[in-house]
Amino acid sequence: MTAIETRTTDRGPRTARYDVERIRKDFPILHRTVRGGKPLVYLDNAATTQKPQAMIDRIVRYYSEENSNVHRGVHYLSEVATAAYEEARGTVKRFINARSEKEIVFTRGTTESINLVASSWGRQNVQAGDEVLISAIEHHSNIVPWQLLCDEKGAKLRVVPVNDAGELLLDEFAKLLMKRTKIVAFGHASNALGTINPIRKMIAMAHANGSIVLIDGAQGVPHLIVDVRELDCDFYAFSAHKVYGPTGAGVLYGKEALFDAMPPYQGGGDMILSVSFEKTTYNALPYKFEAGTPNIAGVIGMASALDYVSSVGLPNIAAHEQDLLTYATARLQEIEGLRIFGTAAEKASVISFTLEGVHPHDIGTILDQEGIAVRTGHHCAQPLMMRFNVPATGRASFGLYNTREEADALVAGLHKVVEVFR
Ligand code: ALA
Repeated sequence: MTAIETRTTDRGPRTARYDVERIRKDFPILHRTVRGGKPLVYLDNAATTQKPQAMIDRIVRYYSEENSNVHRGVHYLSEVATAAYEEARGTVKRFINARSEKEIVFTRGTTESINLVASSWGRQNVQAGDEVLISAIEHHSNIVPWQLLCDEKGAKLRVVPVNDAGELLLDEFAKLLMKRTKIVAFGHASNALGTINPIRKMIAMAHANGSIVLIDGAQGVPHLIVDVRELDCDFYAFSAHKVYGPTGAGVLYGKEALFDAMPPYQGGGDMILSVSFEKTTYNALPYKFEAGTPNIAGVIGMASALDYVSSVGLPNIAAHEQDLLTYATARLQEIEGLRIFGTAAEKASVISFTLEGVHPHDIGTILDQEGIAVRTGHHCAQPLMMRFNVPATGRASFGLYNTREEADALVAGLHKVVEVFR
């Protein structure tokens, strides 16, 4: 079922040989054709990843054999579903090395995780005149929740600038850390440029200033080993669908003491101990933050996807993706008029680019005719596009199943684009 059977650590084995062809067999969609028989070249992994058969099978098994509501029934199926749902929490805990299951809250995804912190922790802790510090390379989901909070509270949103390579300016970051900086929120890796931020250092700097830190890990977890204890971040958010799991499920990690002190985010079933019209008491962690029937199948599927990633091994995945990044970057630079945005020394396997004289949407449309899926647009990072004076870019993002041949197909497709437009 999986590509590499040996397992040496929780986050996976290290192996000398990465058998990408064997890995590709685990992903049924990679074998379909599109647009009149063209083999699919899927290079839109930063938007969402494709799914391994094991994960698909796990969801089918849940609905075929285990479907029931969790934490509610005394009957057999409810016990089975609850056990699977809570086992998934253990899988996530081990995957990011959290201390306890109480620190793992299931959400709809990164966006909801960040909104949870902005609403619950933010409303309780941010006052008029306080500051929230984010960075110039954030996704809208790590900008807008903080704007809503700042507007409500009369707080200020500050932004760490980037250099032309797309790297955060740490000197400026240090200067922007003020006594009133209550929370610092930035991405582990940029979805639009690929920049991997020096988050361990930034977390330590923020903590030395007395600020709380949230990491948007949507683009971190698929590519990098995440150890929340080692990082010492206060909150870490990520989505299942960007790490080979289903859509509509995700995680908010938070330190137990912080979660304990925070008010609920949403009210409803399962997050309470007792309800009366006079007074309601809340459930223990992590259930206090999981109001209503959760995405049970999604959470169970997410755990299966994380197991898959562990079986391949994140160190192997990272090495493979870095090889693709280096190879594809060099090949793309052969194309006249192609400009790459984001040339940070530390990058995830994301390449944003423009072609002189061609609108990015036209690039996407012509590549699509060749069966090549890339994203074009502002990548939900409009302030970043403004920083680089472009309305949009094309973006190729590589995952664990991509190959050098697919990078070659992208380059050939871009030569076609050039032919059409020049
Ligand atoms: N955040 C996703 C992307 O970067 C949707 O494409």
